[in-house]
Order: sequence, then C-alpha cells, then structure tokens
Amino acid sequence: MARTLAAGNWKMNGDAGLMDELATLAAHQGEDGPDVLICPPATMLAQAVAATKDSRVAVGGQDCHAAASGAHTGDVSAAMIRDTGASAVIVGHSERRADHHESNADIRAKAQAAWAAGLLPILCIGESEAERMGPDTLDIIAAQLDASVPDGATGETLVIAYEPIWAIGTGRVPTLEQIVETHDMIRARLVARFGDEGDKIRILYGGSVKPTNAAEIFTAKNVDGALVGGASLKASDFQPIIDALA
Ligand code: G3P
Repeated sequence: MARTLAAGNWKMNGDAGLMDELATLAAHQGEDGPDVLICPPATMLAQAVAATKDSRVAVGGQDCHAAASGAHTGDVSAAMIRDTGASAVIVGHSERRADHHESNADIRAKAQAAWAAGLLPILCIGESEAERMGPDTLDIIAAQLDASVPDGATGETLVIAYEPIWAIGTGRVPTLEQIVETHDMIRARLVARFGDEGDKIRILYGGSVKPTNAAEIFTAKNVDGALVGGASLKASDFQPIIDALA
C-alpha cells in the first residue's frame, strides 16, 4: 500500500470507450507510484477488473448495501462487489446522501459491511455551500466524520474522502488554506480517536480536481490523494493527477 492514492469515481458513466481508457491507464502505470483505484458503475466491475488485470490499478464499487443479502431489489452487497475481484467501495458519497437519503448511521453500517466482505471503504464527508458560509463548518464536518466512521478503523482498512458538495462538478475548489485547515482537523480527530492508526488513515480531497490544480492541492500535508470525478473519465486527464502525487 502506497501512502498516496489517486481514486477515480466514474459515477453513472461507463461504456466500451471508457473501458479502453481504463486499459490505457492500466498499461501506463509503472512499478512504483501512488495507489490507483477506479470505481466504475456496478455493472462494469467485472469488466474493469479484467481490463486492469496484472496492473497496479485496483477497482472499486461506488456503493454497497449494509446488509449481506436479502430482499433489497436493485441493491448490491459488499460481498457481490468483492466477488467481481474489486477491492474497495465508496460509501457515503454526497450524491447518495442526497439522492437516497443516506444518514451517517447508514454509512457507518455500509463501511462495516465493506469490512466484513474484505473491501476497503472510501468514506466520503463534506459540507454544503451554506454550511461552508456559516460559522460552524469544521464542527459540521467533524460531526459527520465521527458519526460515519465505525470504531476500529485503521490505516489499512479506511480511507476518508473530504468532498465539499459545492466543489463537486462545479469547477470551484476551496482555497488551499481551507483545504489545509479541514484536512488538519480531520487528521487531528482521527488521531484522537484511533491513535497511531489515525495518522495512517489516508485522507483524500475531492471536488473539481483537475490536472491544472492537483499539484497545488497535493502540497497540503494531510492531503494523501484525491477522489476524482470528471477528470477520471479520460486517461489523459487522470494520468497527470496521478503523476502529481508521485
Ligand atoms: O467522487 C468524486 C467527485 O464527487 C468529484 O467529482 O467531477 O468534481 O471531480 P468532480
């Protein structure tokens, strides 16, 4: 496991052309460098695992159900994701929190389901624009972190992604100072709760990360990588972001 991680979230995008992009990306990775993860739609997981076989690119899901199995039409369990050969899963993305009314407790349960299936959860937190404008931004993010992350997390078993909702897909990013302040707060909180392991948990920044701004964002001490949406859809956009971490 490298200290840094470049993770791509394809969201509800995926076709044969994207599989070609993934194969290109996989072929381009050298022996060393940051960890690289691509999270395609659930229907493309097995194909993505095949396209990245014998490469340093890992594959993850975008969500899992908290239950192991049962009457949950349309849902996918963590074990099903693991069965495809994937090794990680995003939980608590703000689009799922909004579209599917997922609570912090739901997300904590999904992270535990991921652990039970042997998947690495990438657990997302982040504030709305109104919350960023108010006086309690850091407290709000801290409360989300505390309530979403299950007990027993370690550097090997958890990744946090800080994604300000207002920065997702908008081309707007927080100032470097805001990113530093927020990531430092998250780090301090993880260390207070998990001791040395809290120091090892990787904290990604997500929200309009592009080849043009990645290097500056990665100068922040407690930014251990990125969770990238739009710019993960093309190998030629994602590779410079990976390179900025190396
Ligand atoms: O999960 C990644 C994401 O929400 C950021 O999306 O398109 O702003 O990089 P984007």
